[in-house]
Amino acid sequence: FAMLLPTSFSIIAHIDHGKSTLADRLLELTGTIPMEGESGVNRQVLDSLKVERERGITVKSQAVSMIYADRRSQGREYLLNLIDTPGHVDFAYEVSRSLSACQMALLVVDATQGIQSQTLSVFRIAVARGLRIIPIINKIDLPNANTDAVLAQLESRLGLDCMPGGQDEAILVSAKTGMGVEAVLQRIVDVGFDTSAAAASSPPSAALAPRTKTTAKRGEGEKLRALVFDSWYDSYRGVIALVSVHDGVLKTGDKLAFSHSKKKYEVLDAGVNSPTGISTGLLCQGQVGWVVCNMKSLTEASIGDTLHHANTHVEPLAGFKPSVPMVYCAAFPVESSDFPKLEAAIQRLALNDRSVTYARESSNALGQGIKLGLLGALHLEIFRARLEDEYEQTILVTAPSVAYRLVHQDGSSRIISNPLDFPDHVASRIGTKGGGKNVVEVQEPMVLGTLTCPEEHVGAMMQLCADRRGTEVDVSFDEEGGAATTSMVGGDLDGQQQQQQQQQRIVTMKYRLPLGEIVTDFFGLVKSKTAGFATFEYEDLVEGQGRAEGIDAEEDGWERSDVVKLTFLISGTPIDALCQVVHRSKAVYVARQWAQKIKDVVPRQQYDVVVQACVGGKVVAAEKKGAYRKDVLQGIYGGHYDRKAKLLGKQKEGKKRLRSMSFGRVQIPQESFMEILDSK
Ligand code: GTP
Repeated sequence: FAMLLPTSFSIIAHIDHGKSTLADRLLELTGTIPMEGESGVNRQVLDSLKVERERGITVKSQAVSMIYADRRSQGREYLLNLIDTPGHVDFAYEVSRSLSACQMALLVVDATQGIQSQTLSVFRIAVARGLRIIPIINKIDLPNANTDAVLAQLESRLGLDCMPGGQDEAILVSAKTGMGVEAVLQRIVDVGFDTSAAAASSPPSAALAPRTKTTAKRGEGEKLRALVFDSWYDSYRGVIALVSVHDGVLKTGDKLAFSHSKKKYEVLDAGVNSPTGISTGLLCQGQVGWVVCNMKSLTEASIGDTLHHANTHVEPLAGFKPSVPMVYCAAFPVESSDFPKLEAAIQRLALNDRSVTYARESSNALGQGIKLGLLGALHLEIFRARLEDEYEQTILVTAPSVAYRLVHQDGSSRIISNPLDFPDHVASRIGTKGGGKNVVEVQEPMVLGTLTCPEEHVGAMMQLCADRRGTEVDVSFDEEGGAATTSMVGGDLDGQQQQQQQQQRIVTMKYRLPLGEIVTDFFGLVKSKTAGFATFEYEDLVEGQGRAEGIDAEEDGWERSDVVKLTFLISGTPIDALCQVVHRSKAVYVARQWAQKIKDVVPRQQYDVVVQACVGGKVVAAEKKGAYRKDVLQGIYGGHYDRKAKLLGKQKEGKKRLRSMSFGRVQIPQESFMEILDSK
């Protein structure tokens, strides 16, 4: 590995466009993994986490090195580092992180679907990172592939010169059958090592000079600079850091230091993944590989930091933007005694998934818990699934919420992520946290959502978006047989069904929606209302990456909103874990729904239990759970009216005394809370 010229590339695509399948084929063609007997089997070597395999989506990025012997130059060998990136919008952070280590990106577009919202966002990130884009049109084996339409889209919407002979000529492939995949490898070599330019201007040795600054010595004598872009914990070897060596050489025994943290380490071992770890003892300029140092904990392998030789001074490499959590929730263990275990599991998982933020939080109803900050609703689901799969921790989570921006009278603003910190009244004095300033405006984060569905479901989807306070940005119909005709049909339906689907036009709707409205059950509703035929993607406008046509460029994705804090009280005591921020127009509806739910699960007491939902100190919904009532008149047959009244009077007295004793101390078993939180 150390002798070969390296280049690094990444595969970027919209979800399900075939990125992992293409990666498998590239690894097979280069002999990195054995060729599968039956072609077209989806092995998804890169998707090693269980959740990834189950859901068929890539969560974490991976790096694999392969050696490609180019037939065009008598089997000359090149080292190609593939850095796999996740496709879903929630993981944009992982994407930009992996791209930091690459020189080019293969942009995979499904020939039956064309450009989708995620294609656009990953394309923008890659271009912003200065990567050379290689367009690849995949799934050309499908009968409804519409290559020409997709080529035209790439040209008109992304501005790529992708027609035959163009500068960014697109490669047509079928990752499933392997058709065209060799051409992809050849293109990587051409772009990464600029063979065409070299061939044109003779001296053959120049052909060896890759596009990157790599020289024949490949970094020897240069000051080492290696970017740490991922790290994980191996139970045998401890902390392993994945690095991309930009300059210089790194060897076993070297003394290294981090530019930012200044901590020093000794390299115990180094190597590459091909596809599993191979120890090479050194990593040269342009290589991507792993390093084992004497790091004690994962926090020391700070991602985005630059490693250099301890006795040198270097300019640190540009790291990457830290992720901004968009969705928050609190997680509690099912058994409160399991809290230490849960905390340890979350800490370890968060080290593996750096986009998660966490902090301790305690609730009066659920006890000690952890407040989580995540990138989106899917991210929360994945995080939860990984906690269960990898750490056997089942958690109870509160309703996901988003951050809000509070604007003060003096124009300053602050962002709050906990519904409990939300002011009861806007334009009122709130606690010391706000410095006693008046909050005059509340803003919520917006997203640009793209919904694609067959024409027959348009009405239902428009209604759903309107219910979620969405505003229409654009609606477009793809022509019959157009590129997007089968977007959600996938390859699973038989020919007849596909034809039926094809006869329907596909509609792409763009809506500007409040993030808070889509973090709970929106995805589920989109699927259930369209029998699974619609897809929904969104781009965060707050991040500033996804500013699309029709949206004022001045806006920063935060929008003024009339949202209010909704609190629930049980017998007068507020239950913090149930506190939420909702839009005023929905407050009463949500309040009634939840009050009913709470009433249903609160155990009956000796006295009446009142469940109240309040907005700004006013009760907007209330439910009463009647008390146990012993029939004190039992056994009195006939009897005098006075006697009955006396007995009932005594019972009333007793209950009054009881209520005063246990007021505010309604014991609600934790299971009841679980029912409330689970019954979303
Ligand atoms: P994420 O990792 O979730 O982003 O998806 P991905 O982009 O890696 O897609 P993946 O490789 O998992 O492919 C999605 C589906 O498309 C799988 O069912 C593949 O078998 C199928 N597929 C991929 N490439 C081709 C192809 O060239 N032709 C056909 N017919 N199907 C393909």
